[in-house]
Amino acid sequence: MPRTIIVSNRLPTKVQRTADGLTFQPSEGGLATGLGSIYRADDNVWVGWPGLFVEDESEQEFVTAQFADDSMAPVFLTENEIRDYYEGFSNGTLWPTFHYFGQLALFDDDLWQAYVAVNEKFCQAVLAQAGPDDTIWVHDYQLLLLPEMLRQARPEATIGFFLHIPFPSYELIRVLPWRAELLRGLLGADLIGFHTFGYMRHFLSAVSQLLGLSSQHGQIETPTRTVLVDAFPMGIDYRRYADAAASEAAAAHVRAYREGLKDVRVILSIDRLDYTKGIAQRLRAFALLLERYPEWRGQVSLLMVVVPSRDQVAQYQELKVEIDELVGRINAQYRSITWTPIQYFYRSFPFEELAALYRLAEVAMVTPMRDGMNLVAKEFVASKADQRGVLILSERAGAARELSDALIINPTDTKQLAEALHEALVMPEDEQQTRLANMQALVKQYDVFAWTKLFMSRLAHAKAEQHSLA
Ligand code: UDP
Ligand code: G6P
Repeated sequence: MPRTIIVSNRLPTKVQRTADGLTFQPSEGGLATGLGSIYRADDNVWVGWPGLFVEDESEQEFVTAQFADDSMAPVFLTENEIRDYYEGFSNGTLWPTFHYFGQLALFDDDLWQAYVAVNEKFCQAVLAQAGPDDTIWVHDYQLLLLPEMLRQARPEATIGFFLHIPFPSYELIRVLPWRAELLRGLLGADLIGFHTFGYMRHFLSAVSQLLGLSSQHGQIETPTRTVLVDAFPMGIDYRRYADAAASEAAAAHVRAYREGLKDVRVILSIDRLDYTKGIAQRLRAFALLLERYPEWRGQVSLLMVVVPSRDQVAQYQELKVEIDELVGRINAQYRSITWTPIQYFYRSFPFEELAALYRLAEVAMVTPMRDGMNLVAKEFVASKADQRGVLILSERAGAARELSDALIINPTDTKQLAEALHEALVMPEDEQQTRLANMQALVKQYDVFAWTKLFMSRLAHAKAEQHSLA
C-alpha cells in the first residue's frame, strides 16, 4: 500500500544527552506537535533531524534503531551543518526575512551553500525511504529546495509542500540574493500549501514578479508542469487537548497550583523564546496594566512559560537577557511579600502540565509580532470545557483569520494590549461563553485530521489533473 513520507527538519522526538546517556523527549514547536498526531497512521514514515549532534557511529545506530520502532528515520547533521544550515541560513536568514524582521537577516554565501548541501542530504534520505508510489510531503522553510531536488530524481513522484510560517510580501522576498532558486525549489511540488490566503497571494505575486510565471485560480503553469497553490489553515488534535484538560490528572495539577497561587487570577503566556512572539512587548503591557489599574495588583499574575529555542543564535541570546531583565524589573517594582506579578518559567512543560495550565488560566495572551498560525491559541480554546476564559490574540498571527471571536489586538500597541487585558478580566461570563463556543466549534471541526485529509485529497486531485492534461 502506498505510504506517506513526511519530511521536516525537526522530528517529533528529540534526542538529548544527559548524565544517563541519550534520552528521548517530545519536540516543541507547532510543526512537531501538530503533525505528531497524524504521522503514525498507516505505514507512514517521518524523515528528519533528531535535534542533537550525534557523531559516534554506534550512537547513530542506537538512535536509528530506536526511531525505526516509532516510524521515524533520522538524518544526522554535522556540527558545521547545524551551525551553517540550521542556525545560519534557516534561522539567521530565512526565519527573520519571512517574519518581517528583514533587518536581522544574514546574507552569506557560505550559509547558502550549506543550505543547498543539507537539502541535498535530505533528498538522499527521502529517496532511500520512498517507493515509487509513495506520496512525499515536505514541510517548512528549512527545506525549500527539496521539492525540486526530489522532482529531478523522481519526475513522476507525488510531492506536496506545506509552509508553517508566513510567506511575506514580495518586497521582503526580493531582498534575498537566492530568491529565484528558492522559488524554483518550491515549484518542484505538485501542491504548495499555506496557512492563509494572504500568504498564498504573496507567494503567487513573488512567483509572477521574480520568475515571470502567471497563475489562474491558484494554478501556476511552469514550462513543464502545473503546480497547484492553496490555503490550508492548520488545526490541532482537538480531542487530545480537550480530554487532557478535562482529565482528573489535570484537575489534580490545578489543585496543587491553586495551593500556591491562592485565589490570584491567572493570565497565561506560552511560547518558544523567539523575537517573533512579542514576549517583551507583552511584559510591558502587563506592567502598564498594573500601573493604570492598581486594583489588579495582588489580584492577577502573569504565568509565563518561555521554552528555550535556538539558543546558539545571537538574537535569541540577546532576547533572553532582555526578558530576564524585564521580568526582574517588573517583579521588583510591584511584588509584595505574598504576591508575585510574573511567574516566569524558562523551560518546557510535559503535556499533562501544559493541559493543566490551559485549564487553570482565565486569560491567554497570544500576541506575536508575526506567526504563521500559532497553535497555542487553538490549544487554549480546546482546553476550556466550562467555556470560561478569554483569548487575547494578535492580528498578525495566522490564527486570527479564524479566531475572530478572540480580543484581536495590534501587538505593538502597548496601551491597546493593557486595555484588552483589563477588558478580559472584567468580561461578563455570558460573553466569554459565546465567544469560546464559537471558537471551539471552529477549532473542533477543522482539526488536524481534517487538515491532513483535505491537503492529501487536494494533492491527489492535483496529480490526477496533471495526468489528464499530459
Ligand atoms: N509546547 C510544548 N511544550 C511546552 C510549551 C509549548 O510542546 O513546554 C507546544 C505547544 O503546545 C504548541 C507548540 O509547542 O503545540 C508551539 O506551537 P505554535 O504554533 O504556537 O508556535 P511555534 O513554536 O511553532 O512557533
Ligand atoms: C516553528 C517552525 C518549525 C520548527 C519549530 C521549532 O514552528 O515552523 O519548523 O520546528 O518552530 O523550532 P526548532 O528550530 O526548534 O525546530
